[in-house]
Amino acid sequence: MIPQVRPDIGQEEIDAVTDVLRSSMIAMGKRVAELEERWAAFCGVKHAIAVNNGTIAEMCIFAGMGLGPGDEVVTVSHTFNATVSSILFTGATPVFVDIEPDTYLIDAGRIEAAITPRTRAIFPVHLFGLVADMDPILAIADRYGLTVVEDACQAHGATYRGKRAGSFGHGAFSLYGTKNMTTGEGGFITTDDDRLADWLRLYRNQGMAKRYHHEILGYNFRMTDIQAAIGLVQLDKLERNTARRQALAARYDAGFAGLPAAVPVVPEGRTHVYHQYTVNVGAARDAVVGDMQAAAIGVGIYYPIPCHRQQYVLELGIEADLPDTDAAADGCLSLPMFPLLSDADQDVVIATFRDSVLRHAGAEAGAGGAATGASVASAALR
Ligand SMILES: Cc1ncc(COP(=O)(O)O)c(C=O)c1O
Repeated sequence: MIPQVRPDIGQEEIDAVTDVLRSSMIAMGKRVAELEERWAAFCGVKHAIAVNNGTIAEMCIFAGMGLGPGDEVVTVSHTFNATVSSILFTGATPVFVDIEPDTYLIDAGRIEAAITPRTRAIFPVHLFGLVADMDPILAIADRYGLTVVEDACQAHGATYRGKRAGSFGHGAFSLYGTKNMTTGEGGFITTDDDRLADWLRLYRNQGMAKRYHHEILGYNFRMTDIQAAIGLVQLDKLERNTARRQALAARYDAGFAGLPAAVPVVPEGRTHVYHQYTVNVGAARDAVVGDMQAAAIGVGIYYPIPCHRQQYVLELGIEADLPDTDAAADGCLSLPMFPLLSDADQDVVIATFRDSVLRHAGAEAGAGGAATGASVASAALR
């Protein structure tokens, strides 16, 4: 079986955790502080605040902004549920805009039409490891006086015009087991806002700076030193592992040349960190997934049901017409992508995928056609 994802956990992480367990300090302590300092420096921001997962990171940012009922946040539906649930946590309402069909990221050209007097924030998701088109997003935010919050949960180290994900607004990162770096469960908030950072440090720690003095209403969203010890090793490996992901992506790109399948695009000025390598094969998707599974190759569908079609969102009366989101949900699949994937195993994935796509999508999109990229996406899309 070739898995779709697998964390890169080795002896260094095991030794680091053992050291913490042997010490008397296993809750939040000096390792969390060191990880925060290093993450802030890595992202190029003033503050990183470690929390217990990415969902909480997003909820904390929105709570810190004082979002509440009547407020709106412009975001996407083609994302993981937490993007949406973190907005709803505050009582605010997500307003969905469609994605660019080739990058699967928020279409900045459609944001302005979604802005109302109630809009407080724009919340792009840097899905699959590619940063959204931040220049127009920042310009719109500036024009309307909105806060930019980045869902960078899948984009550790990705850059846009030389700046890292999480440094354009307030950023939220996940350190879940499948992410580009992990602490098992965990998250970071990044920000340059001193006041928000101070508030978040209190909020995640029961509102306390001094033990049993509760300055604000806070909760326990802390990361442990056990997690941070893993995170420090993972951060040491991040750039090497990102380079391996990029090399694997380049091998996939070469292996799929001429295939009627849309491979990931990387617009100029951006680096992709390939949290996922996602391909669009349109109406052939389910047949291709079946072939890959039959060949014992793990594939993922991120995400089969867009957020605006989830039961609880429909029950809230939130409606949206998002044809490009629906098309991505219907046509995409993600292939094995993790730093420990060997060239030999990847060659098996490439051969199996090529064969399957040519059999199922070839007739529809013109088998053996030389077109690639977005033109293939539209050819292959339903
Ligand atoms: C796009 C996106 N947003 C938010 C989250 C939430 O992060 P976590 O699972 O750490 O709560 C994730 C991770 O699964 C994610 O991929």
